[in-house]
Amino acid sequence: MGRHRHNSKREAAASMTRRADPRTRIAERTISAEKPSLWYKDAVIYQVHVKSFFDSNDDGIGDFAGLTAKLDYISDLGVSAIWLLPFYPSPLKDDGYDISDYCAVNPVYGTVEDFRSFVEAAHARKLRVIIELVINHTSDQHPWFQRARRAHKDSVERQYYVWSETGHEYEEARIIFIDSEISNWAWDPVARQYYWHRFYSHQPDLNFRNPHVMREVKAILAFWLDLGVDGFRLDAVPYLVERSGTDGENLPETHSVLKAIRAEVERRNPDCVLLAEANQWPEDALSYFGQGDECHMAFHFPLMPRLFIAIAQENREPITEIVENTMQLPACCQWAIFLRNHDELTLEMVTDEERDYLWTFYATHRRMRINLGIRRRLATLLDGDRRRIELMNAFLFSLPGTPVLYYGDEIGMGDNPFLGDRDGVRTPMQWSADRNAGFSRADSVALYLPPIIDPLFGHESVNVEVQQQVRSSLLNWMRWIIRVRNAHQAFGRGDIAFLRPENDKLLVFTRTYAGEIILCIANLSETAQAAALDLSTYAGRVPVDLFGGCTMPTVSEQAYTVMLPGHSFYWFKLLCDDEARLRHTEPLEAKDRPELPPAAKPRAQRLKG
Ligand code: NOJ
Ligand code: CA
Repeated sequence: MGRHRHNSKREAAASMTRRADPRTRIAERTISAEKPSLWYKDAVIYQVHVKSFFDSNDDGIGDFAGLTAKLDYISDLGVSAIWLLPFYPSPLKDDGYDISDYCAVNPVYGTVEDFRSFVEAAHARKLRVIIELVINHTSDQHPWFQRARRAHKDSVERQYYVWSETGHEYEEARIIFIDSEISNWAWDPVARQYYWHRFYSHQPDLNFRNPHVMREVKAILAFWLDLGVDGFRLDAVPYLVERSGTDGENLPETHSVLKAIRAEVERRNPDCVLLAEANQWPEDALSYFGQGDECHMAFHFPLMPRLFIAIAQENREPITEIVENTMQLPACCQWAIFLRNHDELTLEMVTDEERDYLWTFYATHRRMRINLGIRRRLATLLDGDRRRIELMNAFLFSLPGTPVLYYGDEIGMGDNPFLGDRDGVRTPMQWSADRNAGFSRADSVALYLPPIIDPLFGHESVNVEVQQQVRSSLLNWMRWIIRVRNAHQAFGRGDIAFLRPENDKLLVFTRTYAGEIILCIANLSETAQAAALDLSTYAGRVPVDLFGGCTMPTVSEQAYTVMLPGHSFYWFKLLCDDEARLRHTEPLEAKDRPELPPAAKPRAQRLKG
């Protein structure tokens, strides 16, 4: 009898380990068969630049073979999609957003065959691949532009771009790169006309009033869809079409182009997603979903700076207000939430007062600013403060939308404000304390950019190798929170409702989906806070912590008192009676908590073997 009990306990433990093993869990992730598939609603996206991740041939530049070799690392994070920055042939004057050939791979990163192998290897791990569609503009080195400037003024070829005799049209359009451009027109001595460009002057805008341009776009879509990509990030979409008397942003003509792109993608692969980069005010950002017939997703630009305001001001209002104003999306659509990305932390769409506040608070030196933004990474913006880094990530993973995580932020990587443009946040991934951060074995002078070496955030102290060894590292905490999120569809699909306790330093909301209710409570303040929550709607339910499985006192009709240390948060599942009883046989924490990889086990445990 005793022996029998012992065996079944061991079996139970073994089966729990099997369930909890992250590799098993990842293998269980399926590419959904739902029609139409809403996979992007449950996704966590990892944003990475091929050149920055890993260099396989020691030339100092990351490449597809290197990225493929590191896919297990990405998969172990628990993410389900990878968004790649531009990897096409390019003069690289805007880090690849200046494309000179849309249907090829820049030879420094590999070949189309390497790309195909990468996609296959990603798919084998149930990771989707999202690539860039940069069609607002090309490089001035693109053969279309070289042909256009030499072609007859009225020809179809010249009309691939937008030209002017005077350079005075569309004057209401703002300049985006205010640190480097003084006009949206540039003189071309060969064409003897001005050409239109919303970004750098070496990036002439394509002319979507010319049907041939749309035909080219369709050919580009077909090329990459045939290679198996699962989505496109649509760069700079608000500016596709311009018209006199307007500011040239968000025009109905632009939305028509997007509807045509959506129809084409839908026809070729209904599972493929379109993700809009539309850095706009809330109402305009929302317009990129159309009636569910434009982009499946759009970056939540209105929310991002307000998360930074809320945590700086220790007040929930900036978050509650913007989330409530941006909740009405077509059912098949989804925000993409982000904290940081490869660009500056943009402050174009906040009031002048808010921008000054954020600059003063987060850009402590003029060198950290660029255009209307701040060129810093998450960890440096938050002074390396682990509690605030965790809290901001808790917002990323619990507010409505699909989280997009910028490479390196999972380990708290640093930045270098001395580098030009936005290069300071695009430095080599910090794999180890070794030479070149373990990113490349090239002579350091050959590296595309120097690794971060400062004492707090440099690769000697912040790197993957060390963080894999330490159970309490940020990397392992990120793996944990991603797993918790993945275990609850309510985060990706649920409704949100805010509670408004008197203490406005606490952000409190529920996420509800298919009978599951999750209560999220966050303390925006640096110091301990308390509040009496009215949870009477949930009287009789039992809050259970999603991270550790601890059961809290049952909710009643009376106020529910919560106390939180500075910059901390809780995620509770509100279980009904039956579920709470079931927990005795099926503990929640066994499902949610990842078994850390062997290297990440506490040292003592490893010594014991
Ligand atoms: C937005 C991209 O994110 C940015 O990096 C680029 O410079 C501009 N679009 C122009 O393509
Ligand atoms: Ca290389």
